[in-house]
Amino acid sequence: MMTDLLLLPGDGIGPEVTAQVRRVATKIAPELTIEERPFGGASFDQLGAPLTDETLAAAKAAKAVLMGAVGGPKWKDAPRDKRPEAGLLGLRTGMGVFANLRPAICFGPLANASSLKRELVEGLDFMIVRELTGGVYFGQPRGIEALPGGGRRGVDTQVYTTFEIERIARVAFELARGRRNKVASAEKSNVMETGLLWRQVVTDLHARDYADVELEHILADNAAMQIVKNPKQFDVMVTDNLFGDILSDAAAQLTGSLGMLPSAALGAPGTPGLYEPIHGSAPDIAGKGIANPLAAILSFEMALRWSLERPDLADTLFAAVNRALEGGARTPDLGGNMTTVEMADAVLAQL
Ligand code: NAD
Ligand code: IPM
Ligand code: MN
Repeated sequence: MMTDLLLLPGDGIGPEVTAQVRRVATKIAPELTIEERPFGGASFDQLGAPLTDETLAAAKAAKAVLMGAVGGPKWKDAPRDKRPEAGLLGLRTGMGVFANLRPAICFGPLANASSLKRELVEGLDFMIVRELTGGVYFGQPRGIEALPGGGRRGVDTQVYTTFEIERIARVAFELARGRRNKVASAEKSNVMETGLLWRQVVTDLHARDYADVELEHILADNAAMQIVKNPKQFDVMVTDNLFGDILSDAAAQLTGSLGMLPSAALGAPGTPGLYEPIHGSAPDIAGKGIANPLAAILSFEMALRWSLERPDLADTLFAAVNRALEGGARTPDLGGNMTTVEMADAVLAQL
């Protein structure tokens, strides 16, 4: 029997928030089979590697994988390939999940929780499509080498092929067609060769297959500024792995907190998706029981929609989160004093 949902709690607040996903999943879809495995630093400590072959095999064999968060000070001096973050990168490439959907949705009741003015974020529904398995995260050569005359030299390489750019742009255009029909493509074509190729490939694909979608090219530094100046101008923004990482953390704050932003990482049709809150292991609050579980719960909502073929339940869960927030449910990151469990209780009470 194929497992429906593989939970990878990970480190720090990861286990705290995935435990709440399990409660929600058990209530809303009791028929789902759920499996759990150590991942990241926890897997390194128990099994000697942040991602074992068995865990990758289990991930590929599940219908959906939900990861909490990885990393933390405990593993900061581990060799790079043993670090929790390396496990996550290995999982993403191993599963082939190249398209990372990061929706920045400002729930009505949270319009005052953002550090931006209410009128700028109220009604915000903005989707960042981040390329997830290429770019500077994986390009070779990379490393730190000693220089003969003393000092050291660190190298990272940004690489993109037409194939990689075209397939992520296609995801963005397809998504836009089901939304407000607008794509902004963010790169640095003014200084980077990969940026120039990115702009050319997106332009060509647009002319060839998506001329009906409104396309804007925007330099990534300006995109960062526009996201905080006037975020509602955007519908779908497609960008590379590194810019997507940075721009999505900025976009998260528009929704009230980094603890609100879920994500779905998708690969070829028919393959399992990887669902993760975009936040990290939050070492500063780990163990205190006050992490906001909504990014993880909303990641499960995306799993219901994109991998588990239950868009009806996804709608139900989304509405329950909104009602819980309407009822005043707030963890400290949203200005309240609820615990992680109480926030999940508030959602469960609406299901
Ligand atoms: P972080 O996202 O863990 O935390 C940034 C800030 O946001 C912290 O103040 C934290 O308390 C707060 N925060 C994050 N999630 C929250 C939540 N659910 N509820 C309330 N507050 C929340 O980023 P960081 O501190 O830069 O990184 C810590 C570790 O996490 C690092 O090891 C990093 O590599 C790792 N990381 C992992 C992932 C992931 O697993 N997907 C993502 C980002 C960072
Ligand atoms: C994210 C994280 C990861 C990334 C790290 C932990 C590898 O910041 O998912 O946003 O940079 O992709
Ligand atoms: Mn990040």
